[in-house]
Amino acid sequence: MSPQINFEEQFQAKVDAEIKIEPKDWMPDAYRKTLIRQISQHAHSEIVGMLPEGNWLTRAPSLKRKATLLAKIQDEAGHGLYLYSACETLGITRLQTIEDLLSGKAKYSSIFNYPSLSWADMGAIGWLVDGAAIMNQVALCRTSYGPYARAMVRICKEESFHQRQGYEIMMVLSKGSAAQKEMAQDALNRWWWPALMMFGPTDSESSNTEQSMKWKIKRHTNDELRQKFIDASIPQVNYLGLTVPDKDLKWNEERGHYDFGEIDWEEFWNVVKGNGICNKARLKARREAHEQGAWVREAAAAYAEKRASRVNEKVA
Ligand SMILES: [Fe+2]
Ligand SMILES: [Fe+2]
Repeated sequence: MSPQINFEEQFQAKVDAEIKIEPKDWMPDAYRKTLIRQISQHAHSEIVGMLPEGNWLTRAPSLKRKATLLAKIQDEAGHGLYLYSACETLGITRLQTIEDLLSGKAKYSSIFNYPSLSWADMGAIGWLVDGAAIMNQVALCRTSYGPYARAMVRICKEESFHQRQGYEIMMVLSKGSAAQKEMAQDALNRWWWPALMMFGPTDSESSNTEQSMKWKIKRHTNDELRQKFIDASIPQVNYLGLTVPDKDLKWNEERGHYDFGEIDWEEFWNVVKGNGICNKARLKARREAHEQGAWVREAAAAYAEKRASRVNEKVA
């Protein structure tokens, strides 16, 4: 028997015992790579996700709505920052992850490649998009990588505020004038299916699921989370007096879940591949923001250098 310690076995034993993996612990290369991909993708989604809602800040119907929406969008920037930091603990720089986004190499959630056409979209996005994100993220609070799990705890608290502010917009619209109710229904019609796509491909098509479940990065499969989201959302749809654009949706007594229609996977893959309505506009906006922010990064680096040299002088 070899006296050599089997790192891989020890690692898996820790994961199985629900002991968090920390940045300086040994981990398999593929675990590190999977996490870098997943966390950076998540960070990019938070940042790109600010764009569709930013589109409505100047047209919010009241000062109160504007202040709330602004706070929500700022939270998303904060989520991006926690996640970029968590990602850096895995040995990749923030600049590298951002360059991967800007070059089109890294992905972000496809939902943000859909346009926000009316004020009601601010309701539907908060309610459904942040709602779907919560389903995913609550499970991630127990993910095996410590920094990611801890970032998620705070993010989830803020997400639940986002979901409520969205649902409240939908409540006001759906109980308002006929035109307002129509706006709410139209937003639901456009966001329902893309929200269901946020959970990713079906389990049979999801190549990473099995390994990620073994490493406890993922706790539930895509299909489980999607079903959970549908079951939680339909009573909320009913309360609004609206309907989902799915003629196959019905309660299945035997399963204890809602049955639902087929997702348009062709549309899903098309948007993932970069051909959604807003893919190009979103990347263009991020590239411009990055270029325009160059002077801030330079100034911050120069300031840090100046401070460091002063400290060194004192020490000398
Ligand atoms: Fe967020
Ligand atoms: Fe959010």
